[in-house]
Order: sequence, then C-alpha cells, then structure tokens
Amino acid sequence: ATKMILDCDTGVDDAMAIMYAALHPGIELLGVGAVWGNVDVPLATRNTLRVLDLVGRTDVPVASGAAAPLLGDRPEFAFHVHGADGQGGAGDDAPVRPAAPTTAAQQIVELVRAHPGEVWLVPVGPLTNIATALALDPELPGLVAGVALMGGSARRPGNVTPVAEANIHKDPEAAAAVFRAPWPIVMAGLDVTMDVILTAEHRDRLAAGGEAGRYLARILQHYGEFYRDEVFGEWQCCMHDTLAVAAAAGVLDVRLAPVVHVEVDTTAGPGRGQTVVDLRGVYRGFPAQHGAHCTVLLDVDDRIADEAVDLIAGHGALP
Ligand code: BDR
Ligand code: CA
Repeated sequence: ATKMILDCDTGVDDAMAIMYAALHPGIELLGVGAVWGNVDVPLATRNTLRVLDLVGRTDVPVASGAAAPLLGDRPEFAFHVHGADGQGGAGDDAPVRPAAPTTAAQQIVELVRAHPGEVWLVPVGPLTNIATALALDPELPGLVAGVALMGGSARRPGNVTPVAEANIHKDPEAAAAVFRAPWPIVMAGLDVTMDVILTAEHRDRLAAGGEAGRYLARILQHYGEFYRDEVFGEWQCCMHDTLAVAAAAGVLDVRLAPVVHVEVDTTAGPGRGQTVVDLRGVYRGFPAQHGAHCTVLLDVDDRIADEAVDLIAGHGALP
C-alpha cells in the first residue's frame, strides 16, 4: 500500500479526500495535517477528526498546523463555498478526540524520517504546512516518495483570479518554496479537477450508502449549489482534492501528464498565485526538460469519481 500523509483545509471536497484515503485498500494513511484555507485551522482540525471518526479511523493521528500564510498576511477563508462550518452547514457537533500534541509540519518530518523514501505527501490546501516542514528539515526532498498536490492551473483559467487557483493563491510564497524544492511533484490542478464532476446522481448514491456516505451527501448539497450558481448552472461540483490522493496512490488513469518546469508567481500584480507551467513542448510531444521534476496532469479518466463514490457509499452500508 502507498504510505501517505494528507494535509487539508477541511472543507467539503477535502472531507471526501480524507474518506477516500482512509478507506482505500491501496493506501496506508500515516497521518493527516490540518491547515488554514477554506476555513480557519481549528475548524479544519475539528472537521478532519470528525471525518476520520465517521470512517472508523481513530487510529490516524491528526496534527494542527498553520493558521495563516507564511508571510503572516490576514488569512482569507472560503466559507461562502464550504459553509459556515466548512461542512456545507450540514456538519454535526459530535465530540472528537484531541489532536496530536505536535504541529502538522513536525508530524510530517517525524513520519517521513520514520519511513525514508516511502511517504507521499498529499497537500490539498494552501501549502503553508509543507513549506514549514521543508524549512524545519531541508533534507525532506530526498526522503519522500513525492508530493502530489491539488492546486494550480496550467492551461485553464484560475478560480479565484483569472489566472490563480485557490490553494496556490492563498499562500504563493509557500507554494513557490514547494515547487522549487527538488522532490518529484505531481500537480493535480484545475486542468483535471474541473473535469471530474460529482453529479446529483453521485450524491444520491452516497445518500443511499452507509453513515459516511450519508454525511458526505449532506455536506455536498451546499457545495453543489455554490457550483450551480457560480460555475456550471446546474447542481454538480468538482471532486478536486480526491484526485491528488488517487494520483499519489497510482490508481488514477492518467492520459496526458508531461514532466515540465513550474514556477509560482509571487509578484504583487495580477499574476500573483499563478502556476507558470512550461507547456511549450506541446508541439513536439513534450520532449524532456532538463531538471524538470513536476508532472502536470492535463487529462485523466473521470471514472475515478464513480470509484470514489462507490468506495465511500459502500463503507458500512447494508448489503
Ligand atoms: C481547492 O480549493 C479549495 O476550496 C478546495 O478544497 C480545493 O482544495 C480548489 O481550488
Ligand atoms: Ca482543499
């Protein structure tokens, strides 16, 4: 099984990614970090613990991380997308166990050092915790299997500015540090996550499943309404974060993913937070780029949405 540490700003699609990683037989989930982003970090931590409880994974340690971007700017949350509780306004207040007595960055360093060469880091929120872990342990890039992240966009518009995707735009300095470090990176950005859609039929299949599926169906409702009103014109939503998990686990059917240079724009102008992806090789079948270490997903099979829904709906469901 693929050893993995998730790092999330839990959020609705993050909750699904956690369920998927926690339940997938090909994934060994070593730990989860919480980071500010969709919601503040105490709420992201609570939601992460709650979701792991729901799938019976109280064995997975959850560590709380950064409350604001690296430079200390005021954090901007996305409650309008994810609801006041980060769970589409449909979460519950069931008690949760305490978080681990360590920071998310420290937890990354410890778990990676315990399994050198084996661990995939899977950040699906702003990259603040990952950049902090890098600063704590500059040898990290040589010690991980890789980093599979949800974020950025190569040839699609952004979702928070014309060119920037939320996870990168929220902390461009952290993202720049992560993309500069010499570890293998897999970027699941909007190029693919805008194409892998959860429909009302998926929601209904979840609602007919076990406790985790029913919870996910409930929290998806508001998220799909946001996407209906702001993006698609009908009730459906992007699966986003689960794609990074599936890519790290090697269970995503990838159709086009060149290995190219990626830089993050950290200027103060209209490009801030953009992933500048060098796709100039497109006319020649993407020849190798010297020193490039970022695999940018450009086309994937969207049946991963069905597989994820079935996995989660099936957990604890009556036969
Ligand atoms: C990303 O931003 C967050 O709202 C989602 O959880 C996802 O990680 C999409 O741009
Ligand atoms: Ca997220």
